[in-house]
Amino acid sequence: MSIVFHQPSREFHLFNNKISYIIKILPNDQLGQLYFGKRIHDREDFGYLFEAANRPMTSILQDYGFSLEHTRQEYPAYGTTDFRLPALEVLQENGSRLTDFKYESHRIFPGKPGLDGLPATYTEEDREADTLEVTLYDSLLDMKLILLYTIFAEEGAVARSARFENQCSASVQITRAMSLSIDLPDCDYDWIQFSGAWSRERQVKTRRLEQGIQAVSSARGHSSHNHNPFLVLKRPTADEFQGEAMGFSLIYSGNFLAQAEVDTYQVTRVMMGINPFAFSWKLEQGESFQTPEAVMVYSDHGLNGMSQTFHRLYRTRLARGMWRDRVRPVLLNNWEATYFDFDEEKLVNMARAAKEDGVELFVLDDGWFGERSSDSSGLGDWYANRDRLPGGIRGLSEKIEALGLKFGLWVELEMVNPDSELYRQHPDWALQTPGRTPSHGRNQLVLDFSRKEVVDHIYGMIAGILSESKVSYIKWDMNRSITECYSAAFPADRQGEIFHRYILGVYSLYERLIGSFPEILFESCASGGARFDAGMLYYAPQCWTSDDSDAVERIRIQYGTSFGYPVVSMGAHVSAVPNHQLGRVTSIETRGNVAMFGAFGYELDLQRLSQEEREKVRKQIKFMKQYREVIQFGTFYRLQSPFEHNIAAWMVVSEDRRTAIVGYYKILNDVNCEFRRLKLKGLDEDLKYHVKEKGSWFYGDELMNTGLVTTDSSSGQPMPEEVCSDFWSRLYVLKAEE
Ligand code: DGJ
Repeated sequence: MSIVFHQPSREFHLFNNKISYIIKILPNDQLGQLYFGKRIHDREDFGYLFEAANRPMTSILQDYGFSLEHTRQEYPAYGTTDFRLPALEVLQENGSRLTDFKYESHRIFPGKPGLDGLPATYTEEDREADTLEVTLYDSLLDMKLILLYTIFAEEGAVARSARFENQCSASVQITRAMSLSIDLPDCDYDWIQFSGAWSRERQVKTRRLEQGIQAVSSARGHSSHNHNPFLVLKRPTADEFQGEAMGFSLIYSGNFLAQAEVDTYQVTRVMMGINPFAFSWKLEQGESFQTPEAVMVYSDHGLNGMSQTFHRLYRTRLARGMWRDRVRPVLLNNWEATYFDFDEEKLVNMARAAKEDGVELFVLDDGWFGERSSDSSGLGDWYANRDRLPGGIRGLSEKIEALGLKFGLWVELEMVNPDSELYRQHPDWALQTPGRTPSHGRNQLVLDFSRKEVVDHIYGMIAGILSESKVSYIKWDMNRSITECYSAAFPADRQGEIFHRYILGVYSLYERLIGSFPEILFESCASGGARFDAGMLYYAPQCWTSDDSDAVERIRIQYGTSFGYPVVSMGAHVSAVPNHQLGRVTSIETRGNVAMFGAFGYELDLQRLSQEEREKVRKQIKFMKQYREVIQFGTFYRLQSPFEHNIAAWMVVSEDRRTAIVGYYKILNDVNCEFRRLKLKGLDEDLKYHVKEKGSWFYGDELMNTGLVTTDSSSGQPMPEEVCSDFWSRLYVLKAEE
């Protein structure tokens, strides 16, 4: 891996053995984009890729051949011959928004710097990555713009961010500051977004990229159920296994914008960053503003190749802490089993049954604190409700540990119910706009996390409980979007900063808690998956994927989520039937077979299951413990999409390729069906794999080329009854013969 600067041609070439990224300092000293894609040879001069054409509409430098409108750029501005949406906008005291940031200097260095107060990918050793830092300067504004580019040695990935430094005595308002912007030379792409709503997050939506602007965004204060801060462009001929695909991922949990603008010359401008809508940031003299980081991945091995890069990078160099590389405990969460209706005895009985079946961690969800008997009171009062839990969290956690289980706790630290002690004492601590009626969401208001004293207070309360109790896991929930966003602590000209300051406050609280309690496993959550984003993974290595725990819906949700996020990061539980979200009845096998591809657990009262089902649960837990290393840390392949087929399939392969597990899911039953084969991936061609469920062995090349025969009727035997039903599934376990 290397970053070279060719002085005569003024070009930077970032490359490793997978990708190349080429930037040129343009004749006007702004930065031009020459290439991002598969690795190409280095050369002294790629100037031929700077295609100036004589288009006389507008030009700069009195040169008809050079107009920014027709120039592919790195971090473009509006108003000086480029009419597309820009990467930045800076409102100045005289009302002008024009900027002219010109190359001033650069540094190339090994490793990767952290971003103050923000989540970001990192290196453990400098040799893992090289970083290019380009400093641009606007002499009229006396402002610097510093662009950071990091290329990782082993991955087809580039991480980018931007920082503004104001040196001038006048203040400015930054009203737009993207994390990345890149102009691609054509628009022959399919655009894939991951959109949905509560309980149907990250559904895969694909369409052809077209002239004009296409975008997804959030203005809800969190990254949202509705759209994910992740975007894919793939060649129309590319699929899961071959062809070119690019992924763009924002490491941020607040309002975002992910956009592609195709101009009438078929150039595609992709940009990603904090949503400029409802955003502004005032910079006084000597102050700086750092954007979040965005990661761009290029794959010429299709969508799976792209996803696997994100999986490795995010699992090992975004997630942090003690739990990063550890298999995750099998947990039981009481939420769907009890909702608010529990006391200590009930919880201990549930935990005892869980222990008998092999569960390792018991999680107490919502309802344990303050006067919380429903969702209309108590948020903000982080002390145990002694009517329900006479011994407090400390007493309960000791009882759970005495059973031989670890204990975990739910919190929703960013929120307050008007009916709470906290709100009665500090009504001004909630975000609300003067003179406007605050909108409620789930009967709660959002605490003003842009204020340090609010974050400090919440830290004090929760740290007190964690210090005195035996808590090994925290589920950190966030159950509403932000409305009437306004902070009583900031002046009028800083109100545009509050959404971003809020999320910085959330990050700071996470950082403090992780620092104080490094052994706790954090799982993020926001009404299910409203904050399943790369920003959160920096603090919490796993996230509750969705409130929809129905196995069939979960196939789609987990499939969609896997495009940008690793299997181990997806909280996935077996819940009761009929399913609480949509009333569907699926077998305990299928519920387990879906949930096992994630951070696995149960969300039901095991005591209410039949003995036969309990036996199956025990087998599931045993299986998960045996194979979770492979499932959670192996290479994951999507094989067949539930968005396109009645049969969905995915698989994981261990690092040494000696073990693989295939998840095979038939959504609706069918009759007199076609013969079916599933071509597997990632195996060693020459190894013989024993497939227990087939009672036979096959070479890796057979399984990958002729495929695994999955029609049970092909053997001439009658179909087993279980096959002949809706929502049927099977796991195939492949083990290389010695
Ligand atoms: C929303 C979460 O997604 C659920 O799992 C549960 O924790 C509830 N909140 C509790 O209020």
